[in-house]
Amino acid sequence: MTVSDLTPLMAMAQSALYAEPNRHAHYLECTWPVDQPVSALQEALQHALQPCAGVHIAVAFSLTTWQRLNPNWQPASLREFVTLQGVNGETMPSTQADVWFWLHGDDRGDVMAGVLQVHHAIRDVLLTQREVSGFKNREARDLTGFVDGTANPKLDKRGDAAQIPIGQEGAGGSYVLTQQWRHRLSAFQQLTEDEQAQVIGRTKQDNIELTGDAMPPTSHVSRTDVKLDGVAQKIWRRSTPYGGAEDHGLYFIGFACELNRLDIQLQRMLGNTGDGYSDHLMRYSQAVSGAYWFMPAQVDLNAILSQSFV
Ligand code: HEM
Repeated sequence: MTVSDLTPLMAMAQSALYAEPNRHAHYLECTWPVDQPVSALQEALQHALQPCAGVHIAVAFSLTTWQRLNPNWQPASLREFVTLQGVNGETMPSTQADVWFWLHGDDRGDVMAGVLQVHHAIRDVLLTQREVSGFKNREARDLTGFVDGTANPKLDKRGDAAQIPIGQEGAGGSYVLTQQWRHRLSAFQQLTEDEQAQVIGRTKQDNIELTGDAMPPTSHVSRTDVKLDGVAQKIWRRSTPYGGAEDHGLYFIGFACELNRLDIQLQRMLGNTGDGYSDHLMRYSQAVSGAYWFMPAQVDLNAILSQSFV
């Protein structure tokens, strides 16, 4: 992709948002102790985000961190993630931290060089609470074997889904949801392929969306394909599989122009929207983390890294 493929709105984003392909990824969720001054974080981020060959490095912030870094304005609907409960007792826990780093590139060594650059820059200022390595699986399949990302918006539609529109506070930036989902693949694999397709809402081999009576209201696609007042609540997903033999799953990343789009999808998965259905995918995968972030446009990021506070 070249810069000219991007709409003016999309060109405002940090480069990681649309850059592809990305065979390897790395995620760092960090806390910022209150005794660390703003100036120390600004300096650490300036070093962490230096250009690094072959790797895109993006940064995003929690609400409280954004308010400390930039007391002048904040995106309208930014808030911190709170633990959510579902109708069947499922929990989506909040593990909200303060600063999120997202690195991705095609070469694992390049990504690792980026991770070391970030770590070296931040280690005296931030505490890393969660660190996950992700990778792109063959045919972009999740570890369940189902292709993930098919219904993502295409071309110009990506910016409309993922970024705050021009003219609003925080234009070009994104609301971000990250959730680490730990799969129970042994249970999922006990289902027949037809049963698995009903859990997801698409066929496994050919990745065709189920239709009519074949599409259960409890499928993952049924719960996340949402219209509100006639407007499709599209988001832009950049999730990757992660893990090893014992602990594996999906590191979910969703970008949205309004935080509410992410919240509605979660509430519909949990069965909290009054229609009596919840997402059967949660029988086979458990959220073990959850956080909301604001990923500012590049120009706003540059501004908060260079301004000085009295
Ligand atoms: C265990 C975690 C998850 C797995 C394995 C998973 C996997 C998938 C798969 C295989 C699809 C169908 C293909 C596609 O269009 O991408 C899909 C669709 C989708 N997922 Fe997920 N997903 C997970 C969590 C989530 C979460 C937490 C959200 C939202 C907060 C979400 C939002 C969506 C959306 C919006 C779609 C497209 C629906 C449509 O319009 O067809 N997913 N997911």
